[in-house]
Amino acid sequence: MIIGIDIGSTTTKAVSISADGKIRKIKTKAIDAVTSATGAFGKMLMENDYQIGDIQRIMITGTGASKIKNNLFGIPTQRVDEIQAIGIGGMFLSGKDDIVITNIGTGTAVIGARKDSITHIGGSGVGGGTILGLAKKLIATSDFNGIMEQAELGNLNQVDLTMEDIMDMDLSFLNRESTVSNFGKMLDTARNEDIAMGILNLVFQVIGMLSVFAAKSKHTDRVIVTGNGSHNPIGKKILDVITGMYKVYFEYPADAEYTTAIGAGLFYNRGI
Ligand SMILES: Nc1ncnc2c1ncn2[C@@H]1O[C@H](COP(=O)(O)OP(=O)(O)OP(=O)(O)O)[C@@H](O)[C@H]1O
Ligand SMILES: [Mg+2]
Repeated sequence: MIIGIDIGSTTTKAVSISADGKIRKIKTKAIDAVTSATGAFGKMLMENDYQIGDIQRIMITGTGASKIKNNLFGIPTQRVDEIQAIGIGGMFLSGKDDIVITNIGTGTAVIGARKDSITHIGGSGVGGGTILGLAKKLIATSDFNGIMEQAELGNLNQVDLTMEDIMDMDLSFLNRESTVSNFGKMLDTARNEDIAMGILNLVFQVIGMLSVFAAKSKHTDRVIVTGNGSHNPIGKKILDVITGMYKVYFEYPADAEYTTAIGAGLFYNRGI
C-alpha cells in the first residue's frame, strides 16, 4: 500500500492507495510539517487498522514536504513536486487528460496537465487564505462556516461598484450587476454580511478570471477546480456567472480537496 501525504499551508491531507486501487482519505489541520505528516500518517493507520508493515512507501508533497528530510518510521519516504502531484491527481479525479486545473488552497495555483507533461501556468496569492485573513480583520470572524453564513445574507451592492452605479447601458458583455470595482463602493451602511459577500466575490472573481485566461491560453473551455476552495457553494455561483460571460466551464470532481495527496500517491506508479 502507498500513502500519499499533502502538507498544505492550512490543512494536511493523507490518502492510502491499496493494490486494488481503493483510496481512503483523512484530513487534519496543519501544524508544523513533521507533526502534520506523522499525525496524518498515524491517524490513517489507526482509522483503517493498518500495520506499519502494510505500507510500502510514503509519498509526500505540499508546502511542508521540504521539511521532511528523512524516512518516516523507517518506511521509504519520497518527496513529490506539488505541481506534478496536482496535475496527476487532477487527471485521475476528472478522468481526463489535457486539462487546465485551478487548485484553490490557501493560495491558488493554475496547472496545465497532459499525460506527457505537467506545467505550472501561474497562480495568485489570492486564495482561501485571503478569505480567512480579510474576514478576521474586516468582520472579526475567523471561523470559516461563520464567514459563509454571513455571506449568504450579504448584499454585494453595498460594497462593490457595479455597472448600474456608473452606466445607463450594458458595456460589451458586462450587464448591470457586473462588478466594476471590488470594494470600490463600500457604503457606510455596509453590514458584516455584505462585507463577507464582498470578500468571497473578490477572491472567486480573481480566481475565475485567472482560470479563464489560462483556459484560453491552452485553447480549452474547461477548467477542473480542486483544493478545499472547490467546495465553496457561493464561490461556485460566482464562477457560474463567469461561465455565462466567458463560456469557460468549471468542473468540480468528487474528493477534490484530496487531489494533491492522491497525485503524490499515484506518482509512485508513474515514476517506475
Ligand atoms: N472548514 C474549513 N476550515 C478552514 N478552512 C476552510 C474550510 N473549508 C474551506 N476552507 C478553505 O480552504 C482553504 C485551505 O484549502 P486547502 O486545504 O486546499 O489548502 P492547503 O493545501 O492547506 O494550501 P496550499 O495548497 O495553498 O498550500 C482555507 O484557506 C479556507 O479558505
Ligand atoms: Mg494544497
